Amino acid sequence: MSDHFRVLGIHDNHNASVSLLEDGAIVFSLQEERLNGIKNFNGFPSRAVHRALDFAQITLDDIDLFAFGTVHNPAWKDTAAQIRQYSAPTWKKYLADGFKASPFFSLYTAKRARQRQKFLATQGIPADRTRFYDHNLTHAATALCCSGFYGTPALILALDGGGDGNCAGVYTSRDGDLAKVAVTKEGNSVGNLYAVSTFYMGMMPLEHEYKLMGMAPYSQPKYYEGMSRALDHILSVDGLTFRRSTVATTSNSFRALEAIYRRQRFDAVCAALQDFTERSVTRWVQNAIAATGLHRICLSGGVFMNVKLNKLIASLPGVEELFVMPSCGDESNAMGAAFLAYKEHCAALGTDPVIHPLSHLYLGEAFGDETIRSECRNAGYTFEKDGNINRFVAEMLNQNRIVARCSGRSEWGARALGNRSILANPKSFETVSKINDAIKMRDFWMPFAGSVMEEAAGRYLVNPRKIPSPYMMLAFDTTRERESIRAATHPRDRTIRPQILPREQNPDYHAIISEFSRMTGTGCVLNTSFNLHGSPMVYHPREALETLTKSDLDILVMGDYVIRKET
Ligand SMILES: [Fe+2]
Repeated sequence: MSDHFRVLGIHDNHNASVSLLEDGAIVFSLQEERLNGIKNFNGFPSRAVHRALDFAQITLDDIDLFAFGTVHNPAWKDTAAQIRQYSAPTWKKYLADGFKASPFFSLYTAKRARQRQKFLATQGIPADRTRFYDHNLTHAATALCCSGFYGTPALILALDGGGDGNCAGVYTSRDGDLAKVAVTKEGNSVGNLYAVSTFYMGMMPLEHEYKLMGMAPYSQPKYYEGMSRALDHILSVDGLTFRRSTVATTSNSFRALEAIYRRQRFDAVCAALQDFTERSVTRWVQNAIAATGLHRICLSGGVFMNVKLNKLIASLPGVEELFVMPSCGDESNAMGAAFLAYKEHCAALGTDPVIHPLSHLYLGEAFGDETIRSECRNAGYTFEKDGNINRFVAEMLNQNRIVARCSGRSEWGARALGNRSILANPKSFETVSKINDAIKMRDFWMPFAGSVMEEAAGRYLVNPRKIPSPYMMLAFDTTRERESIRAATHPRDRTIRPQILPREQNPDYHAIISEFSRMTGTGCVLNTSFNLHGSPMVYHPREALETLTKSDLDILVMGDYVIRKET
């Protein structure tokens, strides 16, 4: 019998994931997409569950509680089903919303709950050790427990498309417990308005919203302001909640949006939506600060993947300290649910929970030398060991070569943080085309990001409040030194979405940037995720080698090994 108390947090819907919490510390987190190759996989993360158990060298019997961050689990949808949902005729959406508002919906949710429990039993998860938590509350718990603000007075804001009937929540915490101040019903969702607009623009909702955010700076106020104000007539802030002025819910807003966006240029549409989102959400945040008198802020929920919105929140006068939950979409709810179950267990025992905040995001598996060598042999690649691999990578970047890196524990979440990354010299915009031609095929207007070593952050970033940004969750303006990191900034507004890297978070990756800095005087490297266009980030050395084969990349480093593709 183990002395540890273990909770396995599971998110079993869009972007399914698991998080293993051991005595109040997240020790392992992984999204199912990394294992099955299906981006944002919607379903049960069965492979990730087993990887978590293997990692901890335990079985399901060693898990004390299984925690889920949603009470009602909507039907699983693949990409085609999701597109069908967004493209359904308006009358069908009215019917769906009417059904949700009717007493029959509770019969449906009860049926879904029984089906879910039956399915969980087939996975070996016993009902008596299973806990389900409200979706919005779980988002809030995720941010509070991961932030380092736990046990201190804090304001927690959760904002997403929706779940368990709500889409926005204002919470406070003083002693670690969450007190609900206000919630907004799911029909009045900023997140859904953004998702439906993404669909209107011909892109994939719940996935490509960042592309609209990236396009927004290309427009000018005279082209988008009118549209932005028109969006206020669909949804607006009312104190601590969002209020809808239309009969149709925000998930049924296609017609209303079409009436505003029709015949307007694509960049102006994106800018109007982004401007509306920034104005309304910052107002909501300011109202929450004024109502609670709290200035230490935690943000969570998919809407806060919007780094430009977060940039504005960071600059609000009432914000003194800010934590944005990394990869704060529903994949993070596996963490929040695990924390809630652990807290509940401690409360039942009458003991104080020991909550360990996130100290890094390298929460997946690492693969050793033997695995790397055997995968190289299987794939027909030769490999050579380098005695100073970090210096080698820096030297390649200095020679304007592009290097793919698959080393150390895989990073959890949406952002590549150096261990499953493609790295390049950020000095020239030509690098962007080179990476796009070689592998990424990124949309032409989209920027790449950069990893800046913490010691050099002040040279490149305008960050007067010294807000930490280790997980690429905030955009920043850049200083005059931006010219030396051009390719890691937005080509239009020259902002950057940096990973500000403290040495202790990832000493090897930090050493690469540090060596690069010694060689070039630039303490930043361009960093983009290591994946083929449209695929999840690579996880295992085998996938790294497959990606090397399928792309025009020619240098891959894994552990201490260099693998080159003959060209
Ligand atoms: Fe959510």
